[in-house]
Amino acid sequence: MLHRLRQWICPDLAIDLGTANTLVAIQDEGVVVNEPSVVALEKGTRRVLGRGTAVGKLAKQMLGRTPESITAVRPLADGVITDFELCEAMLEYFINKSSRHRLLKPRVVIAVPGGITPVEKRAVFNSAERAGAGRVYLIDESKAAGIGAGLPISEPMASMVCDIGGGTTEIAILSLAQTVVSRSIRIGGDELDEAIVEYMKQHFSLRIGTQAAEAIKIEAGSAFPLDGERTAEVRGVDTISGVPRKAVVTSEEIREALREPLATILGAIRGVIEQCQPELAADIVDTGLVLTGGGAMLRGIDRLMNEHLGVPVRVVEDPLTTVARGTAICLEHLSQWRDALEDGDSDL
Ligand SMILES: Nc1ncnc2c1ncn2[C@@H]1O[C@H](COP(=O)(O)OP(=O)(O)OP(=O)(O)O)[C@@H](O)[C@H]1O
Ligand SMILES: [Mg+2]
Repeated sequence: MLHRLRQWICPDLAIDLGTANTLVAIQDEGVVVNEPSVVALEKGTRRVLGRGTAVGKLAKQMLGRTPESITAVRPLADGVITDFELCEAMLEYFINKSSRHRLLKPRVVIAVPGGITPVEKRAVFNSAERAGAGRVYLIDESKAAGIGAGLPISEPMASMVCDIGGGTTEIAILSLAQTVVSRSIRIGGDELDEAIVEYMKQHFSLRIGTQAAEAIKIEAGSAFPLDGERTAEVRGVDTISGVPRKAVVTSEEIREALREPLATILGAIRGVIEQCQPELAADIVDTGLVLTGGGAMLRGIDRLMNEHLGVPVRVVEDPLTTVARGTAICLEHLSQWRDALEDGDSDL
């Protein structure tokens, strides 16, 4: 009863602290915050701009188009915090936005990439505590993704997930609620955007921003030949004349641009399968690979992987919220999942 009351006054928070997007989920309510991980700052003083406009969606619109005096930055890169102060400011904003009570401190579970170091973990704990969290726990993004995807990760059977985020791709084979083999590579959606920027420079003599590259990736990007190929219009600056102009790029061309980073991701997945015991590898032939994270939304990525790996591949429903939903499930059944979590109050 007391627990229910506390939960109502000051709900526990599940946070997916992502390179590209940060999500907060609450038990019974689902995802309550879903915003880009971006903070806008005054340049000289490094003060966060006026409350409410400085974090998330509005700040993302400022990325790459700010006047001299303002800068918009992402506090995380490659899945880890690169600017602690800003990460704290961002967490504080999101925690306040999802808390109803200012005095009680919410318990928080944060999903982090499997590959982060103890020092990086400590930094996440400290940022969250200073941002107003009570007890803080960390969970592996892959485990959260598996739980969110509804995989039977507690069973003595292999479940394989690959979460393609903005900064990292996390690949894991889980069994009996533990990670059996995993790999975290610092290649994700951002790298795909960079590859498009590079391609446009090389083949179109056009300099474009990463935001424009992301837009064409979403509009016409694919990993496998499409039934109906697409085109996207892009604006940039001619690298020779320096004049702004438009160009039309086809989905075949974007596929060519994405070939290399996608091959790296495929290679990492293959490496994980090769490393696991034969019994578990045999399970995967039946259970297959489940894709989560925003990168899973790239057209035909399941077909590309199926073709190269020879196992069934499935994209979860709503891949952008899988980790946040899985983290919320952990929080709801904390005693059941305690072994899967790392507690900020214990030594790392
Ligand atoms: N329709 C789409 N097609 C391809 N990519 C997409 C699509 N929609 C979103 N993305 C990409 O998904 C990425 C963001 O995914 P997600 O929110 O899962 O990352 P994140 O959790 O913030 O990052 P990380 O887990 O690496 O810290 C971005 O790179 C974005 O461009
Ligand atoms: Mg993520």
